[in-house]
Amino acid sequence: NSVRPSSAIAYVYRGTFVHSTQQTALQILEDALLGVDTEGKIAFIGEGKELEKLSQTFGFSTSEVTQLEQHEFFMPGMIDTHIHASQYSYAGTALDLPLLQWLNTYTFPVESRFKDLEFAHRVYTQVVKRTLRNGTTTACYFATIHTDASLLLGKIANDFGQRAMVGKVCMDRNNGVKHYKESAQESQDETCRFIKELLNKKYPLVKPVVTPRFAPSCTGALLGQLGAIAKNNNLHIQSHISENVEEVQLVKELFPESESYTDVYHKYNLLTDKTVMAHGCHLTDEELDLFRETGASLSHCPNSNFSLCSGVLNVRNVLKHKVKLGLGTDVAGGYSASMLDAVRRTLDASKVLTIQDPEHNTLTFEEVFRLATLGGSQALSLDDITGNFEVGKDFDALRVNVAAPDGPIDLIQYEGPKTHLEKFLNLGDDRNIMEVFVAGRKVLPLTEPTAE
Ligand code: GUN
Ligand code: FE
Repeated sequence: NSVRPSSAIAYVYRGTFVHSTQQTALQILEDALLGVDTEGKIAFIGEGKELEKLSQTFGFSTSEVTQLEQHEFFMPGMIDTHIHASQYSYAGTALDLPLLQWLNTYTFPVESRFKDLEFAHRVYTQVVKRTLRNGTTTACYFATIHTDASLLLGKIANDFGQRAMVGKVCMDRNNGVKHYKESAQESQDETCRFIKELLNKKYPLVKPVVTPRFAPSCTGALLGQLGAIAKNNNLHIQSHISENVEEVQLVKELFPESESYTDVYHKYNLLTDKTVMAHGCHLTDEELDLFRETGASLSHCPNSNFSLCSGVLNVRNVLKHKVKLGLGTDVAGGYSASMLDAVRRTLDASKVLTIQDPEHNTLTFEEVFRLATLGGSQALSLDDITGNFEVGKDFDALRVNVAAPDGPIDLIQYEGPKTHLEKFLNLGDDRNIMEVFVAGRKVLPLTEPTAE
């Protein structure tokens, strides 16, 4: 499993690597060698005993190889498939109302503040820094309706070196906070401006996403226009679906001609193989079939689903329907901006289903590890670029020390990589994440961008 390098080797690590493949949820490579080329791509991954041969084939010096410590391993960077950057300021509060009331009471008033670019700069800088420290190498962000602030989020992600998908939020319907909306025409025009200006910046790791907030916030006319924009420009799409029962009922009333919530998006060409929909707790099997047929994916946001008492997604059933699925923090409906929390809450949600029905096949930590990494890359249609340590992909990785000196894990003895990963997923935090790489570049420790 090595190919001839297209560019020179920049660096080589030797030690334990853990990742997922389509076939195995957890593949452990002990005493492995991984080389990264000057373009940030994985040039080779081989065995330590092949050092001599690899160094000749790929033209690097064996003395330049960096050896990991015994309690260290590399894992793929985690992929947050759904996070509202604009809601980070009130994360950890305001979790006492169900979705629709929560939006009107807390969310819309805060999001309206992002017309102030100074406020946007403060919040967006903090959320990018925090998620990078937490090991999120790729984030799929919702911003707000404000185009310039949304562009600023793209700039900040680029400056800190995070891979990001950024959506300027579209909504032409809002009965709760009446001033926080656009006309359909404005929303369409500003979406086009957002896409054009973001693409013009040529940030290598940042992509625009067409972002209708969710069906209740949009008229059919706007949904149709956004579907057309996505199609004509071959763009990613993100939104929310079937998060809570009241919302599903509201969609039925607002779109009486549609057979289901999924059918609303499908009808407006918003379900494609580049679409990711958050939640989906209350989707029927027929709706999941439509997801599979269109190639659309789901983002599972268990902290949010618990915190707003929205529902419990049956991930096993989603996987049975062969629908692509990743994990999301859904800040601030979810109170934690850490994907490790999303991993834990995913396991909890699965266990709740097993408590209710002992026949339920509980997710394993290995499976949830895959959802947080490779699954996320598939859900965002980025799996030819990131998600695991396949040769040719970008090196998006976390250097984890399970026994970090001031960390939260007391390791009594060496347990081996599988147990070290399990301990990190269940007990670890940012103190265990020693380095973060995105596209081969070391982005943690953080480097503050230099003013231009
Ligand atoms: N549905 C529509 N908007 C939102 C939002 O901001 N957060 C969550 N959790 N669900 C939504
Ligand atoms: Fe959300």
